[in-house]
Amino acid sequence: MLPLIQLQALSKSYTNQVVLDNIHLDIHTTDSIVLLGSSGSGKSTLLNLIGLLDTPTHGQYLLSGKPVNTLSITEKAHLRNHQFGYVFQQFHLINNLTIFDNIALPLRYRGLATDIIQEKVETMLDRLQLKQLSQRYPLTLSGGQKQRIAIARALIGNPKVILADEPTGALDSKTAAMIMELLLELQQTFSAALILVTHDERLAEHCTRRYYLQAGQLCVL
Ligand SMILES: Nc1ncnc2c1ncn2[C@@H]1O[C@H](COP(=O)(O)OP(=O)(O)O)[C@@H](O)[C@H]1O
Ligand SMILES: [Mg+2]
Repeated sequence: MLPLIQLQALSKSYTNQVVLDNIHLDIHTTDSIVLLGSSGSGKSTLLNLIGLLDTPTHGQYLLSGKPVNTLSITEKAHLRNHQFGYVFQQFHLINNLTIFDNIALPLRYRGLATDIIQEKVETMLDRLQLKQLSQRYPLTLSGGQKQRIAIARALIGNPKVILADEPTGALDSKTAAMIMELLLELQQTFSAALILVTHDERLAEHCTRRYYLQAGQLCVL
């Protein structure tokens, strides 16, 4: 089967530093991949390249067999909205929107009808047992609750790939384990690929493919 994502000889350099050097990676829709590596080893850079939030210096990125470097800004924005769900360490919720509106945001960008958005967000709130938080604001929630909301927002549009950059990095170990369990469960339910960056080797054990980044190289663990 054609891999969903193919990275071929991908490199990323800044003026005085090669961050990623000749990365090759195929990602299939059922993969759960973990990226380990010390701080500054390029984990976020690689995740951002995969999520079309950054562009490589050299090399080829194929998404469903098509090179992404030839796409327009609008086409890339469309892919980010339809194919990717993003989860970050610091949640990146919008503080002046309610929880409902935070989760609805990717669907609003798609221009879906209000009643369809309402139905989809309510289903998601139900599924994650977050209904009671619907009209609250992010600043009134705990870290674990915020990350559940961020995960709901990442999945509301049915993405093909979930990109999670240290999603448990700001949480205590018990909450971290619950968030990890939720991510893996939803990955199965939504049949999405998961690419997880973490420092926590215990969480890494839950993923089917493990890599670490060192000196710009992607090494199998
Ligand atoms: N915009 C940038 N300009 C220059 N250097 C950068 C930029 N973004 C990241 N870097 C450098 O790239 C390296 C990898 O960063 P990053 O991918 O954030 O690492 P990690 O997520 O593994 O901690 C670091 O040395 C960082 O300083
Ligand atoms: Mg990082």
